[in-house]
Amino acid sequence: MVWINFTQANSATHRVNACGGLSLMEAAVSHGIEGVEAACGGSRSCGTCHVYIDDAWLAVVGAPGNDENDLLAESGVQRPNSRLSCQISVCEALAEMKVIVPSPSA
Ligand code: FES
Repeated sequence: MVWINFTQANSATHRVNACGGLSLMEAAVSHGIEGVEAACGGSRSCGTCHVYIDDAWLAVVGAPGNDENDLLAESGVQRPNSRLSCQISVCEALAEMKVIVPSPSA
């Protein structure tokens, strides 16, 4: 189990325990993190699982691939630390990672 810290647009924080092997999106959805809709269920086609990764974990998480980057660009709110949470696998190296959920109006 790995603890992940989600911060939502209203500054509410949620520390959730995620199983290794799940995607970050699956961890968020299974704990009811608002703002991670994941409409496509993780098939990298909707972009509604967009999150911002805290800078301290960017090197561990890595950069998005080209297809993911295209979807993020369509969001209009892409930042250098943007990722699709369905494309990140939870592992021990992500313990205590901080993740920011974009504002619903963003
Ligand atoms: S859940 Fe649809 S792109 Fe991630």
